[in-house]
Amino acid sequence: MKTRITELLGCEYPIIQGGMAWVAEHTLASAVSNAGGIGLIAGGSAPIDYLREQIRLCKEKTDKPFGVNIMLMSPNADDLAQLCIDEGVKVITTGAGNPGKYMAAWKDAGIKVMPVVPSVALAKRMEKSGADAVIAEGTESGGHIGENTTMCLVPQVVDAVEIPVIAAGGIADGRGMAAAFMLGAEGVQIGTRFLASEECQIHPTFKELVIKAKDTDNIVTGRYTGHPCRNIKTKFAKKLATGEKDGTLSPEEFEQLTVGALRRAVVDGDVDSGSFLCGAISGMVNEIKTCADIVKEINDGAEKLLGR
Ligand SMILES: Cc1cc2nc3c(=O)[nH]c(=O)nc-3n(C[C@H](O)[C@H](O)[C@H](O)COP(=O)(O)O)c2cc1C
Repeated sequence: MKTRITELLGCEYPIIQGGMAWVAEHTLASAVSNAGGIGLIAGGSAPIDYLREQIRLCKEKTDKPFGVNIMLMSPNADDLAQLCIDEGVKVITTGAGNPGKYMAAWKDAGIKVMPVVPSVALAKRMEKSGADAVIAEGTESGGHIGENTTMCLVPQVVDAVEIPVIAAGGIADGRGMAAAFMLGAEGVQIGTRFLASEECQIHPTFKELVIKAKDTDNIVTGRYTGHPCRNIKTKFAKKLATGEKDGTLSPEEFEQLTVGALRRAVVDGDVDSGSFLCGAISGMVNEIKTCADIVKEINDGAEKLLGR
């Protein structure tokens, strides 16, 4: 399936593996890139040496294009942004904000820049400041979320900008990808489906929770902190949600409980105090497969439905 996204990024399929803090390291990213998509290494709040090593290891495992996701809220975002230039990274996506201040340096270095946007306004601003594409991410997504849904946000962003739009949030099979394309997207970004891949290095408990989750096993926490997150509905997530709702947890206490909670989920599989960030589509993700199978199945399914 050739689109402006496959042309822009030089990949076979317009499928991007979402940057996922603590999750998206070089093994996963290189597997997705070798499968013909675009793998991303997540910068998260990682130390600069960690990200440098991950980029170098990824280059050893694939000669295909891959990228890095920069979380703009990260205290060392400036260092990671410069590191991507120094290490010759070809593609950057950004999360949680406006990457305007890095744009000129990234463009000068020939990097393709694709910010994640939760709104039409930010999409337009990103186009103006030179983004090559935008990733319109709906509230169905795992991790930090905006309010608008993929179904409503994608066509509005498509109508508002000339650059290609990638749809994210709630896409896990060919039907989801075909639907996104019907809305005008030219690529998809997928996170949750790749959590249940063989190459994903998360704790087995995390994978098991994703696979076992039903449609109702998903919950958003932290709206009152201004940083809402979509998670698997574990006891811990329910405790946070209840504390938020009935006021028994102040926003400060909530923040304290969630510091390091994603790491505890990903690395330790700790169901008592870990936050298992995961999208609403997890109810449909029931099997661990290789990234190659996932990418091919999604792409082939979409191609068939779209009659291409
Ligand atoms: C565990 C997890 C961690 C995530 N961390 C980040 C992140 O660090 N930066 C970012 O831009 N997006 C992050 N996301 C969002 C993904 O990149 C992607 O856009 C999203 O998962 C797509 O929706 P889906 O989960 O329904 O496929 C994260 C998602 C998950 C599930």
